[in-house]
Amino acid sequence: MATPSSLPFKSLIFVSLIIFIFYQSFFLGVSAQSDFDLDDLEWLQGKEDDVNVVQSRLSHQRQCDFSVGKWIYDQSYPLYDATCPYLSGKVNCQMNGRPDSDYEKWRWKPDGCNIPRFDALEFLGKMRRKRMMLVGDSIMRNQWESLVCLIEHVIPPEKKTVSYNGSSMAFHALDFEASIEFCWAPFLVELKSGYQNKRILELDSIEENAQYWRGLDILVFDSAHWWTHSGEWSSWDFLKEGNRIFTDLNPMVAYEKGLFTWARWVDLNLDPRRTRVIFRSVSPKHNRDNGLKCYYQKEPLAYFRRQPHLPEQLFVLRGVLRRMRFPVYLQDITVMSALRRDGHPSVYVRALTEEEAQHPEGHSTDCSHWCLPGVPDAWNEMLYALL
Ligand SMILES: *[C@@H]1O[C@H](CO)[C@@H](O)[C@H](O)[C@H]1NC(C)=O
Repeated sequence: MATPSSLPFKSLIFVSLIIFIFYQSFFLGVSAQSDFDLDDLEWLQGKEDDVNVVQSRLSHQRQCDFSVGKWIYDQSYPLYDATCPYLSGKVNCQMNGRPDSDYEKWRWKPDGCNIPRFDALEFLGKMRRKRMMLVGDSIMRNQWESLVCLIEHVIPPEKKTVSYNGSSMAFHALDFEASIEFCWAPFLVELKSGYQNKRILELDSIEENAQYWRGLDILVFDSAHWWTHSGEWSSWDFLKEGNRIFTDLNPMVAYEKGLFTWARWVDLNLDPRRTRVIFRSVSPKHNRDNGLKCYYQKEPLAYFRRQPHLPEQLFVLRGVLRRMRFPVYLQDITVMSALRRDGHPSVYVRALTEEEAQHPEGHSTDCSHWCLPGVPDAWNEMLYALL
């Protein structure tokens, strides 16, 4: 019970917190990773543990905005090579004959601070008896392979293994009782097969996917690209919400509805004192000119001549995160990665003959995923700095 003498002290803390939060929302605006509105103050009142958690996260974010900075050429990179057994063929660009390798040697330097070089043993130490899961689409799978390759080389063969369960898989570091997992859920909400095999995207169903997300210590989400596939590449035939069926809903409205379903699940089912939740922003593509935009690019852009066009998903995502109670960290990698048109597999998604490599037109190219080692290693170094 509060004694009369401790009351003024508590009010003082509370008033400072309000001032701090107002400062955050006014001066940092959209760049603040999670803003709070007045409803949240009610939630914070009287829960000192939560206040401390939220406060330390906010002040950490205020110290350094990881999303603004530059790429620095660094001979001491990459941190692993093409022999990592967990790399899938389509992103192992060196194995597929990509002639240049400078794209492996850039590290990201935020303007306000340094991101420490990834240290596999220290990372595993922090992960002891913990489970971390990356949830989302094939770009998230790309990031999972990067993270596993960053750590696996310090673990002897008999002390590591991969297991599969439904739409998830896990890399286990046995001595550390730690796992780095991936769960396939490109929409977060559920895509079901209906009458005549029509694909129905259920904007308000999430439990079947979310059963895999319970009990995790760290969750990293992404969901963006599958919402904008259109025309013959459309990922669904119908959208469904409650009893309503939509055939023609603006994809960004659908995206917002899907994200709200996810946000509600996180708010209701996770405890910020037990689980860290990070949402990684949309990974940029360099697909223009029939996918040849990223062919033969050998170095990052130094800067943008014009303000880069931000994908619409980022604005929708920020809006949803702002309205959540749970303090989700928005890991913003969109602009930094947009500088890296040199980082995609392009034609080196498979081994090419010399003849084919000289005439890339007419071969399938990939300017969406990233060569590994490469850009997702920098996202994971950023994750490592956050933990
Ligand atoms: C597979 O995942 C489900 C959902 O998280 C879980 O209930 C089940 O125990 C898991 N099975 C195995 C073999 O780990």
